[in-house]
Amino acid sequence: MVRPEIRTSPAGADPVRPSAGELGSGSAPASDPDPDPDAKRRALDEFATFLNPQKVRLLKASGLDIVEGRREGVWVWDLDGRRFLDCFSSAGSFNVGRRNPRIVKAAHDALDRLDNGNFLLCSREKAALAAKLAEITPAGLTCTMFGTGGGEAVDFALKLARGATGRTKIVSCVNGYHGHTGFALSAAGRDAFRAPFEPLMPGFVRVPFGDVAAAEAAIDAETAAMIVEPVQGEGGIIVSPPGYLQGLRSVCDRAGALLVLDEIQTGFGRTGRWFASEHFGVAPDIMTVAKSLGGSVTSLSAAIFTEELREFLLPNPFIHLSTFGGSDLACAIGLEVIALIEETGLVGHAEEMGALLRDGLDDLAGRHADVIAEVRGLGLMLGLRYREDSMGSRMSYNLARHGILAIFSGNEPSVTRLMPPLVITAAEVEYLLEALDAAMSDMVAGVGPADDGDQARAPQRPRRRPPRRDESSAPGR
Ligand SMILES: Cc1ncc(COP(=O)(O)O)c(C=O)c1O
Repeated sequence: MVRPEIRTSPAGADPVRPSAGELGSGSAPASDPDPDPDAKRRALDEFATFLNPQKVRLLKASGLDIVEGRREGVWVWDLDGRRFLDCFSSAGSFNVGRRNPRIVKAAHDALDRLDNGNFLLCSREKAALAAKLAEITPAGLTCTMFGTGGGEAVDFALKLARGATGRTKIVSCVNGYHGHTGFALSAAGRDAFRAPFEPLMPGFVRVPFGDVAAAEAAIDAETAAMIVEPVQGEGGIIVSPPGYLQGLRSVCDRAGALLVLDEIQTGFGRTGRWFASEHFGVAPDIMTVAKSLGGSVTSLSAAIFTEELREFLLPNPFIHLSTFGGSDLACAIGLEVIALIEETGLVGHAEEMGALLRDGLDDLAGRHADVIAEVRGLGLMLGLRYREDSMGSRMSYNLARHGILAIFSGNEPSVTRLMPPLVITAAEVEYLLEALDAAMSDMVAGVGPADDGDQARAPQRPRRRPPRRDESSAPGR
């Protein structure tokens, strides 16, 4: 198999400095002038009743019972009027900022002339976005399959790996995260996500992240692919150690297995490069992307792969289909997202803001050594690891009190993820650092959530839905 060469896309080194206006993070009022606390209460009650009451309780316990109203740039306002700097970004989905005016305009323009399109036909928007993805992703990745969410892109990537190699085994990492669809869940690195649904897909094995020898022991002549995140997100912002991805590349090559890099969180400038794989000089055979490609206003994912792998799809181009994957509307928006990132030099800006934030976090770690055990990450994908697991949730609570929306890692509760929109400015980084400092002091002083007396009053729903009045008597039932 011919190995693709790694290339850094030209925009990665773009020296253009974006202005705050271009970035879409203009002036943001500290509180919403038109709050609606009743609407918030109603939304939480209905969410508890008709979606999941335990989710409401858990979020409340971490001070995160925020109901998003207005959203703009790096900011979001709770319906009760409070403003937050969004450091979660829906797990890194808002690289170009929330409702970036340029993206909103592109979405309006697209709506004026397009709809989702007929998925079975060829489409100008799909073709143009696939061509652009071939241009900006590592050399050799020239073919695309679109999806809606990240899990769908991972499912396709693993299907392609199996189909193209004729092998079945898939190796993934402990604490890795690839979504909750069939193949993606089978690769999940956390037992709790998989256990209730066993048996999942056969042929999936997990190895510790960062350990080339363990991967080498697992990858054999039956292995279709190894899938890995260059920086584990849900796993607690763990960067691939030096030599790891290069080692996996060699191991896969020797065994004739494919390397799948999941860049769903790390892509589109998040780590200060277009794709995190560029930090390591490693090109995968298949790369999955999603989240930020939708510009915060639509859902769009893609698996990008080599022409050699596409051979498998040629005899049956309808072997993998998705009605809404790569809809014309979403692709028009995705194209504008990439144009915005290129034209505003957002990748370089993320690297610069990431360095600024990192310096400030290192300084905080020195001053709060009793709380912070480690600062880690790349670019604007940073993590604060605390000395105790419980501190992740307690810091979310205290950060929310200081106007910061930040969430701990799903698979590593001792880590706060700091993944603000890449359009963050130096002044907003300072705001974040001051809030972190204050929140940490408050946490050490014992500030925390009050006992949740509301729990007992949480709306209850009958376990079984009663029959509709007309159901029992309806003819034909
Ligand atoms: C690395 C990674 N892969 C896959 C996914 C799944 O994406 P989605 O939730 O859109 O299915 C996520 C979601 O957070 C992710 O972080």
